[in-house]
Amino acid sequence: MDMKASLVDVDWDSFEPSRIQAVRHRLMYHPLLRFYELVELGKRLELRRCIRSHGSGAAAGTPFNAAPDLHPNARSVVDTLQDIYQAQAWMSLLNVQVDETYRALVDEVLGGLKPGIDRVDPGMGYRGGWIFITSPNAVTPFHFDKEHNFILQVQGRKTLYVWDRHDTFVASDRARDRFHACHERDLLDWKDAFRERAKVFHLEPGMGAYMPSTSPHMVENGEAPSVTVSFTYYTDATRRDSLLHRANERLRGLGLEPPGVGKNKVLDACLLAGFGTAATVRDGIRRLAGKPMRSDRSPYACVGRH
Ligand SMILES: [Fe+2]
Repeated sequence: MDMKASLVDVDWDSFEPSRIQAVRHRLMYHPLLRFYELVELGKRLELRRCIRSHGSGAAAGTPFNAAPDLHPNARSVVDTLQDIYQAQAWMSLLNVQVDETYRALVDEVLGGLKPGIDRVDPGMGYRGGWIFITSPNAVTPFHFDKEHNFILQVQGRKTLYVWDRHDTFVASDRARDRFHACHERDLLDWKDAFRERAKVFHLEPGMGAYMPSTSPHMVENGEAPSVTVSFTYYTDATRRDSLLHRANERLRGLGLEPPGVGKNKVLDACLLAGFGTAATVRDGIRRLAGKPMRSDRSPYACVGRH
């Protein structure tokens, strides 16, 4: 397996899809991540409503989904990016793969990683890219996401806290089921004591981490502005897990208390058979009706909730 072309270095001998792991990379030298280019990208993505931002009043325990409303950043995208040192803001350029130029970057990075990932976690799809530009000391509140994620530090320093995807002390099975079913993170409840259970990365340019799907995480920026990029994807296993979580949420709606994804293999197999067939039928009906497919089998992530 030729890994020389990859921009990201992963210890493939120890790589496991479910395990948080440190990585290294060379993206701080990439021309598309120069500051001027990022401001231009910000202008283009603003037109496509692919920008998310909150002010530095947001803390670890701020509800992630509501952070932009609870702590709005009043400055424009360009003002924020050009004055990020003073802006007291966190800004994310979302779904950069919608931009043709940056789609090539997403493909370059994830394409380089794919041979290693495929060996143990096949079915890469729903590729996405995210660029975070952050003022000194701003915080990314505690949350989780559906995708597997390679998060890579390009400029500045930040502290990344990541918790095991199976740690039900920091995120209950119910919180995960609800998130997969309706993208709500309202059952996540931050406690400062969680820090002791986290895997902590003190990220500098060239450093990064692999975070498996639904690993809770929280990020504290350092004393200088920072640029961080994330490359995300689904695999056959994440699609299967997501389906099971959604099925469990349906069971909860019927007053049942499922044991949690992965804890009862017979139940999981039954749920996959039933709910998997229903999901396939729903997709088929949308296709026949000529409606746009928002399937998790799309090659690239769809613009929407995040
Ligand atoms: Fe995240």
